[in-house]
Amino acid sequence: MRIVTIVGARPQFVKASVVSKAFRKLAPQRIQEILVHTGQHYDTELSDVFFRQLGIPKPVINLGIGSGTNGAQTGRMLESIEQVLMEERPDRVLVYGDTNSTLAGALAAAKLHIPVAHVEAGLRSFNRHMPEEINRVVTDHVSDLLFCPTKTAVENLRQEGIVRGIHQVGDVMYDCVLTFAPIAEQNSKILGELNLKPKGYFLATIHRAENTDDPARLKSLLDALFEINRRLAPVVWPVHPRTRKAMLSYKITLDDSLCLTAPLPYLDMQQLMANARCVMTDSGGMQKEAFFHQVPCLTLRDETEWVETTECGYNQIVGTDAKKIIEAAATARFPNGSKSPELFGNGKASLAIVNLLVTQTS
Ligand code: UD1
Repeated sequence: MRIVTIVGARPQFVKASVVSKAFRKLAPQRIQEILVHTGQHYDTELSDVFFRQLGIPKPVINLGIGSGTNGAQTGRMLESIEQVLMEERPDRVLVYGDTNSTLAGALAAAKLHIPVAHVEAGLRSFNRHMPEEINRVVTDHVSDLLFCPTKTAVENLRQEGIVRGIHQVGDVMYDCVLTFAPIAEQNSKILGELNLKPKGYFLATIHRAENTDDPARLKSLLDALFEINRRLAPVVWPVHPRTRKAMLSYKITLDDSLCLTAPLPYLDMQQLMANARCVMTDSGGMQKEAFFHQVPCLTLRDETEWVETTECGYNQIVGTDAKKIIEAAATARFPNGSKSPELFGNGKASLAIVNLLVTQTS
């Protein structure tokens, strides 16, 4: 059986790493995986370093699509992926998450009548202004195997009339954290390099278009980070290239009191998260990773797809209002003595996915 896996952006490299490993472990004879990188993320620190650290095989094909508006980027991917699929004629296409690469891969395959499997199916923020939400909805509706991380995701699909091919397998990012957190703890030197003490700093990331492409929202977030850094504890902020460009174009300059870094490799990021006093982020993945590390999280958005993390106060939705963020940062705590319940599976989602791919693909 031949499976074409489409990846393109940083979070997909993380998710694909554990599933690719499960392919090699469980079904090396039965499944040939052809890894296609769209080239959506092309900077070394957003791409190559993840392949190296996570032990992902080199992509067989790199489409080199690069940046562009949502439409242009997706359109270029669609055309190139279609070409690959016509040449490779796989039995199935596997896509991850909610990026433009996900949508392009799913759409190209569906139009060629190649069955599509979607890992992280059923997530919804119910905010159709986010490109990711459009990508999720369309991808789910053209997929015939839908691997849901949570019960809520299964329910969301049902609400949209999707009832077949749904499998609640758990979250592959939990598999990743279980695999790589001990390795990060052993190997990462990031705390020393940045001169940080465990539980003595905040960790922030901002990259969502809804925050970066609106100067007022971005400015308000930066005000919050400055104040938290001044009043509470150092704020470490690995700056995404989209955010760096936005700040340049709005002529926002940062003084050097914040601990700014380039985007960090996976292991350093896990180590920083595990030891942070609190994570503040608009990333979907980091909300869950904070939860897995039992670190409180403030979500810098107006809603989340990961509603499970907000239950019991693990994760608070604080939006972009500076005052609210500062107040929440001052009091953020992970509930005492709580061991994260297994809302995201048992750490074997990738094995379940590979088993289902073998049995459900003709
Ligand atoms: C994308 C995903 C988002 C995911 C995020 C993880 C979409 C719509 N968004 O957002 O869901 O959470 O990846 O990082 O697919 N850029 C570089 N170097 C790179 C890549 C991007 O400089 O290697 C710059 C380019 O100017 C580009 C901008 O960042 O236009 C945005 O990149 P893009 O891939 O479109 O979206 P992300 O913001 O990274």
